[in-house]
Amino acid sequence: MQRFDSIISGGDVIDGTGAARRRTDVGIVDDRIVAVGDLAAAEAGHRIDAAGRCVAPGFIDAHTHDDNIVFVTPDMAMKVSQGVTSVVAGNCGVSLAPLALAAAPPPPLDLIGDRRDFRFAHMADYFAALDADPPATNIVAMVGHSTLRAGEMDRFDRAATGDEIRRMAARLDEGLAAGAIGMSTGLFYPPARHAPTEEVIALAHVAARHGTLYATHMRDEGDHVLDSIEESARIGREAGLPVILSHHKVAGVANHGRTVETLAAIDRVRRTQPLGFDVYPYVAASTVLSRDRVQTSSRTLVSWSKTVPAASGRDLAEIAAEWGVSPEAAVDRLLPAGAIYFLMNEEDVQRILRHPEAMIGSDGLPHDVHPHPRLWGSFPRVLGHYSRELALFPLEEAIRRMTGLTAARFGLRDRGVVRTGAFADLVILDPAAIIDRASFEAPKKPAAGVETVIVNGRTVWRAGALTGARPGRALRRQALDAPMKDWRASA
Ligand code: ZN
Ligand code: CU
Repeated sequence: MQRFDSIISGGDVIDGTGAARRRTDVGIVDDRIVAVGDLAAAEAGHRIDAAGRCVAPGFIDAHTHDDNIVFVTPDMAMKVSQGVTSVVAGNCGVSLAPLALAAAPPPPLDLIGDRRDFRFAHMADYFAALDADPPATNIVAMVGHSTLRAGEMDRFDRAATGDEIRRMAARLDEGLAAGAIGMSTGLFYPPARHAPTEEVIALAHVAARHGTLYATHMRDEGDHVLDSIEESARIGREAGLPVILSHHKVAGVANHGRTVETLAAIDRVRRTQPLGFDVYPYVAASTVLSRDRVQTSSRTLVSWSKTVPAASGRDLAEIAAEWGVSPEAAVDRLLPAGAIYFLMNEEDVQRILRHPEAMIGSDGLPHDVHPHPRLWGSFPRVLGHYSRELALFPLEEAIRRMTGLTAARFGLRDRGVVRTGAFADLVILDPAAIIDRASFEAPKKPAAGVETVIVNGRTVWRAGALTGARPGRALRRQALDAPMKDWRASA
């Protein structure tokens, strides 16, 4: 008779494919699930009673800026407390590697670290550092276009020259060979805003050669969002690789309701090429503080400020009134800083979430003093608020959007599913209790209802607390599947 290291018994297993739950047992040996079925008679080193609970694949955070926080707070409490077991880093054109800096990082690179944090000239060094000192969660990483630009260009207000493109391509090529799973851009941000589409296509060809993908924080998520979707699709088409639109949204009051158009455009593109997207479940965005963003925001909260640390968590309008200056002048005094912007509309957020292609990604900013609550709340919020309370979709479907779908899109082999042979990345949750507790006022509150979280067979979260285990792995592209391998199946 087979002996298991552990057996999770009597739970309602939700396997991550969208299939209905079924009451059964899950047997684990070492880092793998080796049996799913009736294991009442089997022997186990240790049994976890999951009666009345759901057992699901550990959640995969499709959109993170966790590149550096994995070294700073490797327990990853803000993620494992939500049931997240893997994170996708290097989004929005910003990756920690490959880049060794001698000066302060330009915004938005400063969202993930200071000069001394940008210390990995090669992607392989970054992965080696993770191997030597692993975090609690698994991590996959993309190479950021703005990071490449910061390494090769003296100024950002122009297109890269042929020579600079060749040097960026060489660094990207090396990073992908070392195991990065794709390239990301943040064409909205100053370091990349002046990069023409052709510059991105030239680099995307390199990503395509490695069989990886392209993720993008688009040039425009406001008035010209449809042009940006077309630009993103063109990059994917011409370079021949899958595209992920990051944190899909339409920003600005004038554009509220336009997800009807953007989702139709996405569906049109998807008929002829692989394209997916992620979304976070809130009406507010968060990034660096800037004058132009403040002007389109109905309310702005300061998330951090280097010059006025006490401003963190406060309303910009209040600060400006207190100082007797305009909000724009207040911005100038607070910089460098981060902010939370109320830009979106609830109906749009729900319409995007309901789309069957929507992957859940937190876009959390883990270094912020007063972070957007998406950092600690995104996954339980989708499960508790949008699935259970608002019935946007059944729990099984909500979980698919944060597990099986995401694993297929990013090519994370043997993850995102509960089945024999898969990695034992698992979460045990109370479906009646799960809910986010992080709010805009108190953003660092752990969620309720996440009882046990297991990464590669080891428990990292139990009864509302960290265990201290750090069994996460830096997953290399070479050990993974092709991204978007079955995108047509769900098109
Ligand atoms: Zn972004
Ligand atoms: Cu992002």
